Amino acid sequence: MTNNSALKQYLERCQKQVDSALELQLPAATIQPQRLHIAMRYATLNGGKRVRPMLVYAAGAALGLSAEQLDGPACAVELIHAYSLIHDDLPAMDDDDLRRGRPTCHKAFDEATAILAGDALQTLAFKVLCRTEPYPFSAETRLKMVETLAHASGSRGMAGGQALDLAAVGEQLDLTQLENMHIHKTGALIHASVKLGCLAATEADPQQVKHLEHYANCIGLAFQVHDDILDVEGDTETLGKTQGKDEANGKPTYPSLIGMKAAKEMAQNLRQDALNSLTELDERADPLRWLADYIVDRKA
Ligand code: IPE
Ligand code: IPE
Ligand code: MG
Ligand code: MG
Ligand code: MG
Repeated sequence: MTNNSALKQYLERCQKQVDSALELQLPAATIQPQRLHIAMRYATLNGGKRVRPMLVYAAGAALGLSAEQLDGPACAVELIHAYSLIHDDLPAMDDDDLRRGRPTCHKAFDEATAILAGDALQTLAFKVLCRTEPYPFSAETRLKMVETLAHASGSRGMAGGQALDLAAVGEQLDLTQLENMHIHKTGALIHASVKLGCLAATEADPQQVKHLEHYANCIGLAFQVHDDILDVEGDTETLGKTQGKDEANGKPTYPSLIGMKAAKEMAQNLRQDALNSLTELDERADPLRWLADYIVDRKA
């Protein structure tokens, strides 16, 4: 089997796995307040790539865990991500109409419902981590997971990165500032995904965990560099979101700061750095290797 078809199979398996788990965790559309629950489901069960859950599964698998053991943290990180996208698309932020090939949440519903759906998805993420179902982690492990996800989502993580992003509109950032923004707005949640997989493996060798965290930092930054590249070179239909919005919104990006060629080289170098950090891990880390390729080669 080529790496490409192995990756495709792995992606599909993880997508199915996390989609069923999300279906179980999200409130049914028939429960009151229905409009809010329908909006939460609309923004979550709508065919995202599920890269973050995949990283939870793949990091855990590299340390010997089964996917079933990781459904809770995999769902939790995707719920935070879905919330972040709803808010990112709001008129007060990026003002986007299209997400995952459909109208954004505030377009399909209304702004207040979109804000509340984001709020409720965020708190649901932490509820899922606190539950002993579907897998009974110890109270200590669950507490560490809650802290990890809270830190990565908050003002020192994703939300902080989004604040830097908004403050940077129309500004000329230097490379260090741009990297800092990307590391926070996108890297933090990707790092947390890998870390959640590691925390679930309570017997993991700390040295291996260190390597996995380095891997996560590299692909976290690479993910946003490639997202910036796709905003220039992708097409709206494949992306499922409007191409060219970064330039239209005056956002500093890697292609705009260092040029397209250097941005692509940077993404490839980060991929290589990520792969190098896995050299001491056995073939159970192969999905992480495929994912490093996917993150900088994807078309959407
Ligand atoms: C988009 O994330 C937002 C960024 C952090 C760049 P994804 O590219 O993972 O979006 P989905 O989940 O597949 O829609
Ligand atoms: C989004 O970055 C980061 C978060 C949602 C936290 P972007 O604004 O570049 O994401 P897209 O391009 O709209 O998906
Ligand atoms: Mg944004
Ligand atoms: Mg955006
Ligand atoms: Mg973008």
